[in-house]
Amino acid sequence: MKYKPANNIQDLQYFGEYGGVNPSISDSSTYTFLSAKTMFDTFEGNAEGCYLYSRHSSPSNLYLGEALAAMEGTETATVAASGMGAITSALLQLCQAGDHIVSSRTVYGGTYAFLKNFIPKFNINTSFVDITKPEVVEAALTKNTKVLYCEAVSNPLLEVADLEALAKIAKKHQLSFVVDNTFSPLSISPEKLGADVVIHSLTKFINGSSDAVGGVTCGSQEFINSLRSVNDGANMLLGPTMDSMRAASILKNLRTLHIRMKQHSQNAMYLAERFQQDNLRTVYPGLKNHPGHESFKKQMNEDYGFGIDVGIDVGSLDKANELMELMQEKNLGYLAVSLGFYKTLFSAPGSSTSSEIPVEEQKEMGLSDGLIRFSIGLDNEIERTYKTMKSCMQEVGIL
Ligand SMILES: Cc1ncc(COP(=O)(O)O)c(C=O)c1O
Repeated sequence: MKYKPANNIQDLQYFGEYGGVNPSISDSSTYTFLSAKTMFDTFEGNAEGCYLYSRHSSPSNLYLGEALAAMEGTETATVAASGMGAITSALLQLCQAGDHIVSSRTVYGGTYAFLKNFIPKFNINTSFVDITKPEVVEAALTKNTKVLYCEAVSNPLLEVADLEALAKIAKKHQLSFVVDNTFSPLSISPEKLGADVVIHSLTKFINGSSDAVGGVTCGSQEFINSLRSVNDGANMLLGPTMDSMRAASILKNLRTLHIRMKQHSQNAMYLAERFQQDNLRTVYPGLKNHPGHESFKKQMNEDYGFGIDVGIDVGSLDKANELMELMQEKNLGYLAVSLGFYKTLFSAPGSSTSSEIPVEEQKEMGLSDGLIRFSIGLDNEIERTYKTMKSCMQEVGIL
């Protein structure tokens, strides 16, 4: 049976507090109880439908969490103030001192820095591996390994993880398999392929307006309850709480995600094909020569294409900077990090979003200086965009 995540979002039905088609925004940090007994039960986690304090949960945050759980097909979900808030809390919840994590080496720079520089202070250590080689992943496991971590499609090299193969390894060795699905919302559904926990930075495609920072952790009721526990829950105790106003606005944007993903992906495919024909080294999983093409195809839900992100290697950082400045001047988009905006965004990840990764390691993983990461916009006339981009490339001598 094909999995259809957009239908799950479409089928959600809301009757707001006053019959509004959008749920009313909860504007309270604390909640009254009609009896002291209910308050006690709520603190004990036994009063379904009652709220105690908005760092724990709030109606607006629960609405957004449930919509994202519907998208990913997990039992439930909890939202966080940022993608990093979701990632760090989930990992700290799953690991004790002395535990070991096996992670893909091509993960978002912030995640890499957390695993490499921050979490070792709790005696939790990480081995970074080439996630596209299941045999290498299995060889890196130790008797202390608790978590297998990767991005379904990695930032910024667009490596594609074979989630089914990795889930098998995780099951065999009783590991929690945690997948960051920020780069492939709707197109890949990690839980359906065996992931235990699915995380997103909502800041990117899901919100899609570059006006909010947010994250979500989707998983089993038991795991999400543990994150929210007043006694030892990382989300509750570390406090990466999303604001209710933001939760309400992200929920509204989520409803058009399927339309945006189609247009972004269609534009990305068009440009990737053209750039490749122009003999530029182009990284895009939709291209047949991309090492992850078949793997992406095997795992994808139809309709949403191969994603928004296209990489182009223009040879050197100087050339990359020159081209990006010119493209901004010609109003093709913005020289900015992040992804999923209506206008194209471009940056050189080696010196920005992945700068936490030491240069030697960047080289080893194939992250070159001259790589420009494009988050392709929603341009209605992509041919016009291509023509202007090509003339910029000619002007700086790349073509
Ligand atoms: C794949 C991925 N995961 C997580 C994050 C972190 O998310 P946030 O910036 O919302 O904390 C990012 C941010 O760039 C990302 O690209």
